[in-house]
Amino acid sequence: MNKLASFELSLNIFEKLRQLIHKKAGISMSDAKRSLVAGRLRKRLVALNLDGYDDYFHYLKKDELAGTGEMQRFIDLLTTNETWFFREEKHFKFLKKQTKDCPVSQTVNVWSAASSSGEEPYSIAMTLADSMGLSSPWQILGTDISTEILTTARKGIYMKSKIKGLSTPLKRKYMLNGVRTDEDYLAIVPELKKKLQFKHFNSAKTGEPKYFDKLTAKNNFL
Ligand SMILES: C[S@@+](CC[C@H](N)C(=O)[O-])C[C@H]1O[C@@H](n2cnc3c(N)ncnc32)[C@H](O)[C@@H]1O
Repeated sequence: MNKLASFELSLNIFEKLRQLIHKKAGISMSDAKRSLVAGRLRKRLVALNLDGYDDYFHYLKKDELAGTGEMQRFIDLLTTNETWFFREEKHFKFLKKQTKDCPVSQTVNVWSAASSSGEEPYSIAMTLADSMGLSSPWQILGTDISTEILTTARKGIYMKSKIKGLSTPLKRKYMLNGVRTDEDYLAIVPELKKKLQFKHFNSAKTGEPKYFDKLTAKNNFL
């Protein structure tokens, strides 16, 4: 039998792993998520040449002291990053209404607290660019616990066939067509991209990201 197929996640170790992800990221996993957890972690067991999920759990516990980065990989693997442009339509209508009559000099800061691969904060940016203009002093902070997904968000490049929720006029206005080997992709225009910052932040920990101080006064947050 191949090694991948032979791994079995016992109830006991699943319980330990789900307590760990809850402690680290505030993520709750129901009993039904046992096979999902097993599937997402399986390749790590092979990559680390471990004999089973119990070994992996001990490896993670050691990482808490040694800091090899495995805990972050564990978090990256267990977060669900599903998102799309203008996913919560009502929120964007509300944002447009709130900002359309803002004076051009008004500073507006928006925090997308689980920004995933960037579709949500870029949708906020398109909304603000339409209602306030690109030269007004608004800016957006996108934060997420997954370092891997933040890399995608920072790039702001999306595969055309996977883009969901974005109208053709907005694509034309705020995205650039890839050429030659990149023809299957669209990229956020630089003028919009420079209005965003992406940072690693765990929302399950109390307090606001320290980057907020640099952004400007708290009472300007929407
Ligand atoms: C389903 S996506 C939602 C993305 C976007 N906000 C949307 O509504 O389209 C959930 C995101 O939350 C992030 N996440 C989960 N726990 C987190 C935590 N404790 N701190 C920060 N981000 C977290 C995940 O990494 C994932 O990218």
